[in-house]
Amino acid sequence: MKRVTVTVPASTANLGPGFDCFGLALALRNTVRFEAIRQGLEVDVEGEGADDLPTGPDNLIVRAAERIFQKVGRRPPGLRVYADNQIPPGSGLGSSAAAAVGGLAAANALVEGGLTRDELLRLAWEIEGHADNAAPALFGGLNVISVAGSGGETELLRRSIPLGELRVAIALPALRISTAQMRAALPEQVPFQDAAFNIGRAALTLEALRTGDYALLGLALADRLHQPYRKRLLPGYDAAVAAARRAGAAAVALSGAGPALVAFAPTGHERIAQAMALAFEQEGLPTRVFVLPADRQGVQISVVG
Ligand code: HSE
Repeated sequence: MKRVTVTVPASTANLGPGFDCFGLALALRNTVRFEAIRQGLEVDVEGEGADDLPTGPDNLIVRAAERIFQKVGRRPPGLRVYADNQIPPGSGLGSSAAAAVGGLAAANALVEGGLTRDELLRLAWEIEGHADNAAPALFGGLNVISVAGSGGETELLRRSIPLGELRVAIALPALRISTAQMRAALPEQVPFQDAAFNIGRAALTLEALRTGDYALLGLALADRLHQPYRKRLLPGYDAAVAAARRAGAAAVALSGAGPALVAFAPTGHERIAQAMALAFEQEGLPTRVFVLPADRQGVQISVVG
């Protein structure tokens, strides 16, 4: 029987000022394997989140696959799904986008749906409600996404931004806050000058990342649209940012909707990550650290049989 193996990278979204628009793929991968079987659905999850993630039709990988089967009008008689997760769920490192993209890409390959990565991105956006993790998960590297509308009247623009050598330091405090809660913390409206502030800072942040200009990044990477509201739900946020900067970080942002923080620096990533972890731990939050290079490839797919 045919077997498809897909690996999908983690991602950090927003990068400070690029709320719902910027996403960077990171070299930490989930594996999703699909096998056509005679009948039924079997789901086996290992690794990060294995004890908590659903193993029935409500599993996000399976739901994403179902979108493909319906769209293409073909499905295997039965499906065996195996997921090996390296990306911690609920971390702000794009685990749900990785699951959605993994399910979409694996199903597309299994039934030879022929959908392009751009078409998969549109489906991932519909599943996720935002595309800034799904885009890097699919394409790798640094992505800018602009989406508007819903249903049939949708616009989705995406481009990859060339990137030099880049690695980031990440601190992930043990705090359970969902993306939905973090989105609910945002105001309905923001002051006009805050929107204008973010437009300038977003453009300059991209330029700094594109050119590897950490001095500019340190000045540019700032946000007034989401971080000021979200950090109230994250004890130790200000202390961790300050500690990262003291340890040599040029800039620090909430990774996606958090709770992870991502720090940018030319060197000293391990020290920076540990400094952030110590600050969170002083707030009573056990914290995991990661030092991750940017991922350049996005989703990878192999088919046997
Ligand atoms: N842009 C999204 C948000 C990313 O900040 O809510 C969620 O991972």
